[in-house]
Amino acid sequence: KTTYSLVVVSNRLPVDFEVAEDGTENWRTSPGGLVTALEPLMRASDGAWVGWPGVADRSFAPFVNDGISIVPVRLSGAELEDYYEGFSNDTIWPLYHDVIAPPSFHREWWEAYVRVNRRFAEEAAAAASTGATVWVHDYQLQLVPRMLREARPDLVIGFFNHIPFPSYGIYAQLPWRKQILDGLLGADLIGFQRAADAGNFSSAVRRLYGYPTRGVAIDVPGHHGVHRRVIARHFPISIDARSYEELARRPDVQERARQIRQDLGNPNTILLGVDRLDYTKGIAHRIKAFGELLEDGSVSVEDVTLVQVASPSRERVGPYIALRDEIELAVGRLNGDYSTISHSAISYHHHGYPREEMVALYLAADVMLVTALRDGMNLVAKEYVAVRFDRDGVLVLSEFAGAADELKQAVLINPHDIDGLKAAILRAIAMPRQERLRRMRALRRKVFDNDVAAWSTAFLRTLTEGAAVRPGIP
Ligand code: G6P
Repeated sequence: KTTYSLVVVSNRLPVDFEVAEDGTENWRTSPGGLVTALEPLMRASDGAWVGWPGVADRSFAPFVNDGISIVPVRLSGAELEDYYEGFSNDTIWPLYHDVIAPPSFHREWWEAYVRVNRRFAEEAAAAASTGATVWVHDYQLQLVPRMLREARPDLVIGFFNHIPFPSYGIYAQLPWRKQILDGLLGADLIGFQRAADAGNFSSAVRRLYGYPTRGVAIDVPGHHGVHRRVIARHFPISIDARSYEELARRPDVQERARQIRQDLGNPNTILLGVDRLDYTKGIAHRIKAFGELLEDGSVSVEDVTLVQVASPSRERVGPYIALRDEIELAVGRLNGDYSTISHSAISYHHHGYPREEMVALYLAADVMLVTALRDGMNLVAKEYVAVRFDRDGVLVLSEFAGAADELKQAVLINPHDIDGLKAAILRAIAMPRQERLRRMRALRRKVFDNDVAAWSTAFLRTLTEGAAVRPGIP
């Protein structure tokens, strides 16, 4: 059996299995940021990726895609409902995003979560060579580090949490709060997006286990009174900034951006929102603010258009079904009240688009609106910045997105403060060119200096260096 010295474990594989309407089946590479970042490392160090191929009730043998070994994990339809839609996306997701939607707690969901985490851990253990590094990703797999450590004490285990980690008062609601912490503490290194997330985690560990913490270090009591040192600190994730800029420089993409502006009726200002259709993104707040600007006459549809791309997401999970109705009602009302035959108030798209089209939209957009109520990082904000090689364009960014910790030269807003949001949009629309260029230059420096390759390198270096001197890392 083949084993690997670097094993990445995530709920979703970087390839999706698709069945077309005529029944033909094929694999489609989903070019997410994570794959781009890890591809070179995985090729160089003989890596494998363990994850779910996106369909239920199908078993697949391991295969190689673009030089990366893929190990598909099988999920039944019932497991998909209880582990993925249930516990991951209707318990942990809302809880970790500060209960914007009320989390549902169901014991059967938890049991499925434990079972499925065990399966991922077993697949990862079987794929890992002696002393291998295993990097586990995100909230769907928080029990995997502990399960792996128990089966394979020889492994170096890292975990990265892509979403926020809530403050103790919220985290404490979780009936399985101790088990989840214990699961994560099986790792040598636990990465978070923001320093505040790492702090929240350490404080939950202190409150629930009483383990001593000092700075980023947590001393977990082990066998024979010897402590095992776990590091919990922040590693803000990023994008492959250069590949976005390259796309933006392509003449056909720039032509498409001009076309988009023309098709929208040549407004003076294009506002853009790009999100998965998720209640964490503050889409309704954005639409409300824009609607009020139209209502009080601060802007007109001939002058300003809002383009909203809301890509379909988790469509069988209750709060997402309700959200879609809410957003589409708001969009329909606004367009009914303000659109003319030639100009729509909101150009709304419930689709995902290829990356070229997204980059053209970013190029066309004068103002990018990121109004998340809570967001681990928000890579859309970084993509917009990476694309704007002309150094123009204004980023309006929620202070509740992890990206706000780094992108301080954006126009920062509190999306709950509708008057503040309206003022920020007007300010962005009217911002003098000099100020736009100055801000965008600073933002671009941030994004290009801290790209996703720097992120994965920093995480893996910290993980392996820490392991080399275990247990006494400073
Ligand atoms: C967020 C999560 C990811 C997740 C993605 C898409 O970015 O951090 O783990 O894969 O959303 O959600 P989905 O449920 O479709 O995988």
